[in-house]
Amino acid sequence: MASNTWAPHEQPTGLSSPWDAGYGQHVSVWAIVVAAGSGSRFGSSVPKQYLPLAGRRVLDWSLAAARSVCDGVVLVVAADRADAVEPLADHVVVGGSTRSASVRAGLRALPGDASVVVVHDAARPAASRRLFGAVVAAVCSGADGAVPGVPVTDTIKRTTTLGHQVWVADTPDRDTLVAVQTPQAFRVDALRAAHASGAEATDDAALVEAAGGRVQVVPGELANRKITVPDDLVAMEQYLGDTDED
Ligand code: CTP
Ligand code: MG
Repeated sequence: MASNTWAPHEQPTGLSSPWDAGYGQHVSVWAIVVAAGSGSRFGSSVPKQYLPLAGRRVLDWSLAAARSVCDGVVLVVAADRADAVEPLADHVVVGGSTRSASVRAGLRALPGDASVVVVHDAARPAASRRLFGAVVAAVCSGADGAVPGVPVTDTIKRTTTLGHQVWVADTPDRDTLVAVQTPQAFRVDALRAAHASGAEATDDAALVEAAGGRVQVVPGELANRKITVPDDLVAMEQYLGDTDED
């Protein structure tokens, strides 16, 4: 077992908590790691975020990266995991039936002095400390939110459905497109306001954008893929290395 060893991508970068807002004023940065999904596309009986990966569970990689940069971590789990002991989390709360509802459950558990929140998918175990640091730094520098983005390599078409047929509506300029990942950082009050209506979106930035917030894009990481189907876990095992063999 090598659960305390760090993979090469996790080496310290000089970015660390506590954050400073200038004049020595401490900025309290908390993470919400959402792990309440059932993993229907992955299809395993144990949800994908609880499966073993390179010596520890998928979600432990995500929690450890969040811990290394934040003052505290809220872990959001399904109801049947509410009583599980999770040493890498400061609070464990029960999520909802959608990802957005799970994030709202996490927001309710933040301490009152938290001013920056980083929302991260448990299913993205390869996000580096550096990436957490980059999105937090962007918010500390004045953005309402910050997301990692990687350039898209495929041409993307917007489509329209007519009857049972799908047609191309138009082709956005690929140079303006990025594929967006987590961790995503926000001013806590901006994220709370964006979620106040109970709206749904596939990421938190979409809600902050819709509420008029300014969201910055920082360079994402190609290795930071989300585990969605079993092939993703196989590839991730290769990337993070099998640290169990020693
Ligand atoms: N998530 C959550 N609560 C939900 C749905 C999703 O906390 N109600 C979390 C997942 O556990 C995951 C992250 O949001 O860490 C991204 O979601 P996704 O990859 O879609 O995971 P699942 O929803 O579990 O998978 P699927 O959509 O295939 O069912
Ligand atoms: Mg899902």
